[in-house]
Amino acid sequence: MAGLELRNPTMNAAGVLGISAPLLKRIYEGGAGAVVTKSLGGPQRMGHSNPTLVSVEGGALNAMGLPNPGAEYFVEMIRELKGDGVPVVASFFGGSIEEFRDVALVLSEAGVDALEVNVSCPNVAEEMGMLGADPMNTEKVTEAVKEVAKSPVIVKLSPNVTDICEIARAAERGGADAITAVNTLKGLAVDADLRRPILTNVTGGLSGPALKPVALRCVWEIYEAVEIPIIGCGGISNWRDAVEYLLSGATAVEIGTAAMDGGFDIYGKIAEGIREYLVENGFKEVKDIVGLAHGG
Ligand code: SIN
Repeated sequence: MAGLELRNPTMNAAGVLGISAPLLKRIYEGGAGAVVTKSLGGPQRMGHSNPTLVSVEGGALNAMGLPNPGAEYFVEMIRELKGDGVPVVASFFGGSIEEFRDVALVLSEAGVDALEVNVSCPNVAEEMGMLGADPMNTEKVTEAVKEVAKSPVIVKLSPNVTDICEIARAAERGGADAITAVNTLKGLAVDADLRRPILTNVTGGLSGPALKPVALRCVWEIYEAVEIPIIGCGGISNWRDAVEYLLSGATAVEIGTAAMDGGFDIYGKIAEGIREYLVENGFKEVKDIVGLAHGG
């Protein structure tokens, strides 16, 4: 996919997991085709104060606030993972287009296999805005990252926009090699006894099964709007969910919330389920079923 050759089409989703090399290594040992880091920025960030994660009906709501040790600090961990043969996708963000470019350069020089540009975090909008809400900004960020990237550039989009296809086309114009669809859907949880929002940030991003129909619709629409590959993300809990994403137009999938609930061997189980589905239905490889639900 986009020049990446992975042992299978599963990865973890950047979001809550992925802040250390040992944890990412466990995800790879659990069977993932590649691992995705927690989004890394320029300077270290503490993120929002607790509570930052709450279970809700059909999934989870998080407002981590992009806590991370900074891209420079993470370089050693990337090298450690690469030394162990783990393909690494570095998710990253910036407060400005220049910062996106600077962080991309650091991560690219660390030798990551791909860069995932997070222009879609719903939890820092007041502080640094969500560049991925605007097509022009999305195109400019993508172009800036592409200028310094030595590996494929994947742009992760938000479902919290009016027309996701417009943003996907902007990323493609900017030179994106692939798109991840989607980040979390902005939501709210209120405690009836305390009579106040549960998360310190008030709102958070919804992930898990409740997000799946929205995310699947986004993948479907983007598949019809752009030529570049799509990584489907949102509410995948088993191989059947993953196959639905592939049929809708995704070439690979990212799984986050289900791994927090069910453990890291979920990646291997889903990859094996996809493989069995292909064999049982007479398909040779994943690409044979990508977008098949769109018909002729
Ligand atoms: C967060 O750190 O708030 C979650 C990351 C994201 O949604 O991009």
